[in-house]
Amino acid sequence: MKKKNKWLNPFHWLSHKGWFFYDLPYFIYENQWIKGVELGAKSGRSMFYMLKHNKELHLSGIDKWQVIEGGAYKRNPLNELRCKRRLKRFQERADLIHEDALVAAGFFEDDSLDFVHYDLQCKPMLGKHGEMIAKWTVKIKDGGVLIGRDFRDFRDSFYRLGYEENEIFKCKIKGRFSRRLEYLVVKKSY
Ligand SMILES: C[S@@+](CC[C@H](N)C(=O)[O-])C[C@H]1O[C@@H](n2cnc3c(N)ncnc32)[C@H](O)[C@@H]1O
Repeated sequence: MKKKNKWLNPFHWLSHKGWFFYDLPYFIYENQWIKGVELGAKSGRSMFYMLKHNKELHLSGIDKWQVIEGGAYKRNPLNELRCKRRLKRFQERADLIHEDALVAAGFFEDDSLDFVHYDLQCKPMLGKHGEMIAKWTVKIKDGGVLIGRDFRDFRDSFYRLGYEENEIFKCKIKGRFSRRLEYLVVKKSY
């Protein structure tokens, strides 16, 4: 029997590729988070949907917008302009920061964020996720979260920081699990 092409199934496509409009905005909505940061704003796609569906949300987006290795980043400097244009209608609730995310962590107070959406997957970040995660979890409030897609690709970075598998959860939205989004709950011991 001929094998079915799963990408022709709209539900499969939506649940895999649609994480930024199908999962992330609603996960934030259900948790009523109102202060967040996105690391890796690129052209503002995921920021747009988070801001559109969460009217109380204040979101800062960080990116270097440099040409980096990988076909998707050949015209990355143009993405800064696209991002600004796309988010114009939310300008009162959105800030954009042109900086390396490691440096930009210094612009935020410790324990001040409900969530960080971690979307920095690209070749130059290989081997650097641990240092980045360590910097940004400090900025998240007790009980806040670090959310991201495909954390599996750099799970070892979490383990090396001392996190265990049972501290990383699949995002659940309206009773269904996201195929790609996961989150780490940040717990502080004062
Ligand atoms: C996977 S893309 C983000 C996709 C975006 N969130 C979207 O919804 O389309 C990753 C982005 O991270 C940025 N980036 C990678 N390393 C960075 C770093 N150290 N500091 C700031 N931005 C970085 C890249 O410039 C790239 O635009």
